[in-house]
Amino acid sequence: MPTVLITGANRGLGLEFARQYRADGWTVIATCRDPSTAPDLTATGAEVHAVDITDDAALKALGRALAGRPIDVLINNAGIFPLQGPGGAFGDIPVDPWMDTLRTNLVAPWKVAETFITNLQAAERPVLATISSLFGSIGASSMSGIVIYASSKAGANMVVKALSLELGPRGITCLALNPGWVKTDMGGPQAQMTPDQSITGLRRVIAGATPADNGRFFSHDGQEVPW
Ligand SMILES: NC(=O)c1ccc[n+]([C@@H]2O[C@H](COP(=O)([O-])OP(=O)(O)OC[C@H]3O[C@@H](n4cnc5c(N)ncnc54)[C@H](OP(=O)(O)O)[C@@H]3O)[C@@H](O)[C@H]2O)c1
Repeated sequence: MPTVLITGANRGLGLEFARQYRADGWTVIATCRDPSTAPDLTATGAEVHAVDITDDAALKALGRALAGRPIDVLINNAGIFPLQGPGGAFGDIPVDPWMDTLRTNLVAPWKVAETFITNLQAAERPVLATISSLFGSIGASSMSGIVIYASSKAGANMVVKALSLELGPRGITCLALNPGWVKTDMGGPQAQMTPDQSITGLRRVIAGATPADNGRFFSHDGQEVPW
């Protein structure tokens, strides 16, 4: 069976990815910051590894631990959405949370790709999927007050495009994916979709991806999203 590696898999969308791929019999390599507080993830039968994706040394150590194992699908899922207010309105945007968010949502997906490039290349039709957001689409952008998150996801989209140019010629299909607005800790209870609905859709997009999709941005329903 194929192997998927998922970052930030202890809750939310990452956990749902782990559940669904395990239910289909995949080998799931799941990462989270603290496996001792991830009973739901452990219960899926996934192989759980501790890593903070902003910790380069920890990422490299995980890369060494997984050396030689083909990875068919790598999902850059871990992300943060810091609230900007109060004190986060125009004229008073805090710099430190902005930098932390760029490091997590924009820089880390690139470093994760660098870490597992050899594992991806060892698979037959590898896919590198980065979970973006409609808030990262410059073309679809219509909401103020979220510049920290929106800029991090717009940057992540360029990271996906840059990865597609680097890795497409090496046979790796790189995708940016919009999960929709989903009921998780981040999405909140008012969100439109359950994790099950969103991840069922995203897994369908990933399963159907071909090299012709390299460097493209898709929603959970398969629709292409404007950059
Ligand atoms: N839910 C939505 O409506 C929605 C919409 C658009 C895009 N997204 C994107 O979908 C992805 C998953 O979101 P979610 O809704 O599942 O969010 P969530 O419920 O807040 O879960 C976020 C996950 O990311 C992990 N994480 C954060 N920073 C990390 C780090 N430095 N190292 C390792 N893990 C880290 C968290 O781990 P801890 O438990 O250790 O904090 C947690 O497992 C994110 O990239 C998010 O931006 C979500």
